Amino acid sequence: MLTPVHTGLDPVPGVWWVPAHKSEKLWVAIAFVWCIILFASMPLWHWKGGQNPAGVRTKVDPRAFYARTAQFAAQYKIGDDRGLPIAAPPAGSHVYLVALAFQWYPILQLEKGREYTLHISSLDVNHGFSLYPLNTNFGIAPGYDYALRVTPTESGDFRIICNEFCGIGHHTMVGRVIVVDPDGKKVADNARASIQSADVELAHAHEVSR
Ligand code: CUA
Repeated sequence: MLTPVHTGLDPVPGVWWVPAHKSEKLWVAIAFVWCIILFASMPLWHWKGGQNPAGVRTKVDPRAFYARTAQFAAQYKIGDDRGLPIAAPPAGSHVYLVALAFQWYPILQLEKGREYTLHISSLDVNHGFSLYPLNTNFGIAPGYDYALRVTPTESGDFRIICNEFCGIGHHTMVGRVIVVDPDGKKVADNARASIQSADVELAHAHEVSR
């Protein structure tokens, strides 16, 4: 005689045909409404969240972009810092910044309260633009000029940190943006503060990943 074996093909005895309880229907309804809210918040954030690049994206040849940036840096050079030119373009003009393994070229000096068109691109691989100590995060891919419209709202000496892993020197990829006050107020050098906060953040990230 055959021993009865449960093959999984026969329905498991249960009460699935009993109509759902009122509270179960309520929870399903709540979950559904919440799904719709989360779903609607995606396009809502797109339009209302200020998360989108404020520029015009065009395709560029990475090497041509680099050459244009070098030309820009030479044209508006007012000094240099450890071999990197400091470019101070006229207020409201077109500004060029190129990310490459492992630096941000050149150093920019901008004026507070003036809108610039920031042409930003990469020469080689994907990099991430973070302006410390502000909470910004912008992905940069080679072959695209993002032409962001930016208006510095605070004077200071800021650091650009790369936040996209781009290779062995990723953690050393630190750039610099100086924002001067048109009223002639002295620029606070918050370089140490911002680099410290970057270290704190990194240390924290290590703790979390451990
Ligand atoms: Cu560039 Cu990481």
